[in-house]
Amino acid sequence: MRSLIDIIDLTVEEIDELIATANDIIANPDKYAEKCKRKKLATLFFEPSTRTRLSFESAMLELGGSVIGFSGANNSSAAKGESVSDTVRTVGCYADIIAMRHPKEGAPMIASMRSPVPIINAGDGGHNHPTQTLADLLTIHREKGRFDHLTVGLCGDLKFGRTVHSLIHALSRYEGVQFVMISPDELKVPEYIIQELEKEGIPYTETRSLEEAMPTLDILYMTRVQQERFFNEADYIRLKDSYILTPDKLETAKSSLSILHPLPRVNEISVAVDNDPRACYFKQVSNGKYIRMALILKLLEVE
Ligand code: NCD
Repeated sequence: MRSLIDIIDLTVEEIDELIATANDIIANPDKYAEKCKRKKLATLFFEPSTRTRLSFESAMLELGGSVIGFSGANNSSAAKGESVSDTVRTVGCYADIIAMRHPKEGAPMIASMRSPVPIINAGDGGHNHPTQTLADLLTIHREKGRFDHLTVGLCGDLKFGRTVHSLIHALSRYEGVQFVMISPDELKVPEYIIQELEKEGIPYTETRSLEEAMPTLDILYMTRVQQERFFNEADYIRLKDSYILTPDKLETAKSSLSILHPLPRVNEISVAVDNDPRACYFKQVSNGKYIRMALILKLLEVE
């Protein structure tokens, strides 16, 4: 039995397979409509979510399965002090697979050690978010046709943004990828990730200037400043509008640029950018459902 806790739990070959399956689901949805008949997914969300939870639920429903779950810690026995281990041992008596989001880093990993069914990490604190990365990878693959030799700009809250951490780990495995990390000094990529990049000899630069980076980028991955991870409201207010992508800032960008954002956005991408053909963030939403369908099939070992 396998869980997905970290994106590097999947090999690059397995990621290729998931992308191929997702593309086949997009082309032939009917073929998959009963693949998970009589199977049940539980979504245990101890933190707010729109896309991740509803895309997991839609994914399972489109595979012919059913869903149970809760969408807030206050609606579960966590509010009475139950441990995540006991929660998943319980839910494992009802469901075949569990997607869990938790504010504490490492909670889904701990859960996977006690769970009788596969656990999917749907975001753990400011740490990782492997299934958002799968949605990002499918989007990059559909837009660019490859993962190698790309210059990837990561902009915004690179400290607390868990989607960024998982995406760096995923893309680091491909030849010729380089990262341009664009953030205020207070929101730089955590030191442990920088050390990993150094160790592997993966090229990266750090800058505060989106304008300077723009002309070099193949991918621009914008992120929200993660208000809920700040200790201090004043710091959040000072940093929240560090970057606002507007049409004029895109004038120096490549015509082949792909603009990604895991969403939700607050101010960091002006709605005026939404009609730019380079904007891919709503395609990412739709891709997220298909790649989660592929992942559910894989972890449930459905043919
Ligand atoms: C992200 C998350 O939860 O980390 N959202 C998502 O799952 N698509 C990004 C965010 O909340 O800013």
